[in-house]
Amino acid sequence: MNGGVETALVIGAMSDIGRAVAHALAEDGYALQLAARDPARLERETRDIRVRTGGAVTVHRCDVLDEDGGVSLLDTLDPLPDVAVCVVGLLGDQAESQQNPDAAERVIRTNYIGPALLMGSLAERFEQRGSGVLVGISSVAGDRGRAANYVYGSAKAGFTAFLSGLRNRLATSGVHVVTVKPGFVRTRMTDGMDLPSWLTAEPEEVAAAVVKAIRRRRDVIYVRGIWRLIMLIIRAVPERMFKWIKWA
Ligand SMILES: NC(=O)c1ccc[n+]([C@@H]2O[C@H](COP(=O)([O-])OP(=O)(O)OC[C@H]3O[C@@H](n4cnc5c(N)ncnc54)[C@H](OP(=O)(O)O)[C@@H]3O)[C@@H](O)[C@H]2O)c1
Repeated sequence: MNGGVETALVIGAMSDIGRAVAHALAEDGYALQLAARDPARLERETRDIRVRTGGAVTVHRCDVLDEDGGVSLLDTLDPLPDVAVCVVGLLGDQAESQQNPDAAERVIRTNYIGPALLMGSLAERFEQRGSGVLVGISSVAGDRGRAANYVYGSAKAGFTAFLSGLRNRLATSGVHVVTVKPGFVRTRMTDGMDLPSWLTAEPEEVAAAVVKAIRRRRDVIYVRGIWRLIMLIIRAVPERMFKWIKWA
């Protein structure tokens, strides 16, 4: 808490979803700490948020592929935020990941190891203080391994499981953990993909769901409820059938 105003950290703040989340949190009254690989690129966003909301914004550098996993970011934060949202991710190219272990490792480190280490380190500090909300942007791709994107999907599955364990461990500590599964979202990551509009959210819709989930201390959210049903069905298909279904 900073003079009565709560502070929210957004890691991966230059992403389409991250920018929308930052704006929604600022509108909700939070002072912001925005972190990205290249903080200079955040300047325009920062000015825009300050003009629109009059709220305080600081910018920070964080690259989860750095040797320390980006965790040194946490030493630059004053105050320790009340809320932290990790939006970092990399879809990668499945075919490239199959042929090139370095490419696969980049996808796994960006979607799992980096975000998990950051959330874990933040959790330690939040637990010591006895309060805070951690939000991880995971994916429905982590709900079941699919031929089309299992390197990305398995990393998101790891992140989902990590957040679940963290939530379980911290249940009596005053620290809350939210897992967000957005479904398809129209962003730079999905640019050029032919996505069905009824299954595809805008970044602002994800941001509104994140703010609501923080307020209501939700555990796991699917941004569009239909995805919960779809993934329930996809998870129920027996593996001996699933391996033949090429659309899945
Ligand atoms: N779009 C979808 O359909 C969809 C669906 C489900 C989940 N998600 C998840 O939502 C999150 C945001 O995705 P998006 O769609 O908004 O795509 P995006 O714009 O590509 O966002 C990816 C973000 O991750 C950051 N990032 C990548 N590598 C990083 C690294 N080594 N260190 C720190 N940050 C790094 C990028 O930073 P730079 O700005 O510096 O490149 C960018 O801010 C991701 O976790 C993604 O997996 C997206």
